[in-house]
Amino acid sequence: MTTIDQAWSALSAHAEALQDVHLRHLFDREPERFQRRRAQVGELFIDCSKHLATEETDALLCDLARAADVEGRRDAMFAGEHINVSEGRAVGHVALRNQTDQPFMIDGTDVMPSVRRELDRMRAFCASIHDGTWTGHSGKKITDVVNIGIGGSDLGPVMVTEALRPFARPDLACHFVSNVDPAHICDTLANLDPETTLFIVASKTFGTLETLTNARVARRWLLDTVGSEEAVARHFVALSTNVERVTQFGIDPDNMFVFWDWVGGRYSLWSAIGLSIALAVGFDRFEALLEGAHEMDEHFRNTPLESNVPIRLGLLDCWYRNCHDMQSIAVLPYDQHLHRLPAYLQQAMMESNGKHVNLHGQRVSQATSPVLWGEPGTNGQHAFHQMLHQGTTRVPCDFIVAMESHTSLGEQHLDLVANCIAQSEAMMRGRTDSEVREELAAMGMAVDQIDAIAPHKVMEGNRPSTTMLYPRLTPHMLGMLIALYEHRIFTAAAVWGIDAFDQWGVELGKSLAVSIRPMLSADESPSDRDASTIGLIELVRQHAH
Ligand code: F6P
Repeated sequence: MTTIDQAWSALSAHAEALQDVHLRHLFDREPERFQRRRAQVGELFIDCSKHLATEETDALLCDLARAADVEGRRDAMFAGEHINVSEGRAVGHVALRNQTDQPFMIDGTDVMPSVRRELDRMRAFCASIHDGTWTGHSGKKITDVVNIGIGGSDLGPVMVTEALRPFARPDLACHFVSNVDPAHICDTLANLDPETTLFIVASKTFGTLETLTNARVARRWLLDTVGSEEAVARHFVALSTNVERVTQFGIDPDNMFVFWDWVGGRYSLWSAIGLSIALAVGFDRFEALLEGAHEMDEHFRNTPLESNVPIRLGLLDCWYRNCHDMQSIAVLPYDQHLHRLPAYLQQAMMESNGKHVNLHGQRVSQATSPVLWGEPGTNGQHAFHQMLHQGTTRVPCDFIVAMESHTSLGEQHLDLVANCIAQSEAMMRGRTDSEVREELAAMGMAVDQIDAIAPHKVMEGNRPSTTMLYPRLTPHMLGMLIALYEHRIFTAAAVWGIDAFDQWGVELGKSLAVSIRPMLSADESPSDRDASTIGLIELVRQHAH
């Protein structure tokens, strides 16, 4: 059995040997490359042929996965073990979308009955909002829903609600408030009617400053107009794991949808946190989202390493990060409705895998999470793609595109698809010096001019990408896509031996902000801080006087 160190050494040596191999040549040499390297899960096609990988790379990456016991870690998650070691918790988001009649055991209890009970409550609540049996305090039908939450209690619901806009109910508008910047809540409330607005306060802990601050503003706004405290019960629901804090805040526990500490914030859109999604597109479509994720879960759980798509993609992430020193990944959805996908995946990947110690608390020996960034195509093409094509840093890209539009402008949609395919081709092939010279000569350019301009037009190519292609962006397909990323992130974490399910790094900034806040209004200068922090606090205070 290869040890993890041996696996890494073999991969590094292989990366050295591949240095002069160009993707162009791999395609020239292997006419079957696309056929052999494309994968399919349900209706999702994944083209992995434009990766800097040969059969030897595949084999060595599988050795790495075996040495890191990726499959064992995966099975431990599905068995409900406490794989979130630093928080001493199981990781059970896959149970939230379990479509089988099999139990999902966590700490000796089958959690499926509780999961299903909460889904039933959500379904009934959605129906009552949609059919108008649940009204505001004055008896008017709810027309607007405001989800107040941040991080995992915001990004998933926003991303999915935007992605599924073509399925949105016309009679209910969803809004999302996350930032503690008062502009966010004020801008949102400005156009709403308190009598027809429902607030969803979404917070796993119900202790998050931003969320509670905004929820208090919303409550005051409601009471200023509606007057009666009783109105809160008709206009506020909570999504949380913490019933005491929800009650303390003044929300009736009957108006609370629960989830559990084994659901990580950034993996929570499948739980009660998805209520805004279900309200926006209908509960049946929310269920279709869960079914899509489950289809990917089954693939992840049951497919051998060699053809397991999330595992292959996670291993490629390690390959680029650790053997090619590529420091970022670009997610480029060619789909305007997926415009929040990169932001969502930033939390999923960087909060999960941005760790510097392993499961045993020792400093990791390999670099961990890449920076994830991106924008929808074609907008990005006219912004940062220049760097992707000719910059000195290589960035593996994910291209994501539907073959069919939700609009009636099918021909225009093909413009989008053509651009998507062209970008991955350009990144892979590039353009050689002789191709550039030939083209310029054909335009009648003089040799000295060609000498001057040619270097600027050369593109090295050899820039790797994955293309994900599917018929239409349905709730089911979106569920598959999100779960694919979750498991890919999981795979990389298993290889690096880190805890992908804690987020201690976020805590320090939170507590420092809490201690700085009173200093901004106080008379006394802080003395126990650094000069920059004191200086900035002083500037804000002077401005206020
Ligand atoms: O930013 C840290 C974090 O804990 C995230 O992991 C989480 O999604 C977010 O804060 C919100 O937390 P909560 O749902 O408890 O308000």
